[in-house]
Amino acid sequence: MKIIAAPAIASAAAMFTFGALAQDKPKPKGDVAFGEYLSSLCVTCHLPSGKAVGGIPPIVAWPEDQFVAVVNSYRWKERDNEVMQTVTAQLSDDEIAALAAYFGGLPNQPEVAK
Ligand code: HEC
Repeated sequence: MKIIAAPAIASAAAMFTFGALAQDKPKPKGDVAFGEYLSSLCVTCHLPSGKAVGGIPPIVAWPEDQFVAVVNSYRWKERDNEVMQTVTAQLSDDEIAALAAYFGGLPNQPEVAK
């Protein structure tokens, strides 16, 4: 994004974007850096851009609570998907919270290739 030419508009846009995403949003509950580290378990299938490929749904920019609930529903085998049940079976509460914080903070930009 080129924002040099129109500083007023750019800062208004930035305020809108960051205000909506960062300011109004409570601080992540999970450990974002730890989540980023753990995300290598997920991004072989789920693209960090939020682009859906080959039937793999996007998992970025979700509210943390919702992310945790859905991941737990696979972990506890309430939600039926063998791949996701296997992936999540190994995770602890802290790890899931960290993943929720990391993926929840990623912008949804499906136009990006990866
Ligand atoms: C081998 C590929 C693969 C890996 C690795 C993988 N997933 Fe998934 N994931 C899927 C598929 C396929 C689905 C759709 C399952 C279904 O239909 O219920 C899914 C669904 C999900 C959903 C629900 C999406 C929705 O819209 O309902 C979440 C959340 C999720 N995965 C999180 C994760 C996390 C977190 C990790 C890493 C710890 C991970 N996944 C690793 C393939 C994968």
